[in-house]
Amino acid sequence: MKREISKYGADVLIKKASPVTEFDADLKKLVADMFDTMYEAPGVGLAAPQVGVSKRLFVMDCSKEHDRQYAFINPEIISVEGIQKGEEGCLSFPGIYFEVARSERVVIRAQDVNGEWFTGDFTELEARCVLHEYDHLEGELFINRAGPMRREMVKRKIQKLKKDGKW
Ligand code: NI
Repeated sequence: MKREISKYGADVLIKKASPVTEFDADLKKLVADMFDTMYEAPGVGLAAPQVGVSKRLFVMDCSKEHDRQYAFINPEIISVEGIQKGEEGCLSFPGIYFEVARSERVVIRAQDVNGEWFTGDFTELEARCVLHEYDHLEGELFINRAGPMRREMVKRKIQKLKKDGKW
């Protein structure tokens, strides 16, 4: 079931999320709904705060298969290396894209929906996505990774959209 995506301006997006402690049916439903919401949007990653739930989990699928491969619960970044620059967007900032520098590679450990720990090693787009979504759990938004001029431009654009009732 699709859930509503919180847009920039919602308090839940700038709050540090709390750990997931119950690996129950509600969690499985939340993860399933997050995949539905992400695929429908469409996007390649979605963090729980973006659907109004301040919990430490996110989903990701950069493939075309839509096989719901990656749900990261209580993720911990183990290591990062290298640097990549590329255009980035966020489902909480519809229509807004700009260049963001990220690590080229990330190794991360997380729990799956059953509470089992796994380790993932990601590069390129997947590394960018993991790092972007992880930031959401810290209440950190990609706009804070833009340069000061770009950040002002984006904020002005959003203010105008809000004024026009389009945000
Ligand atoms: Ni995002």
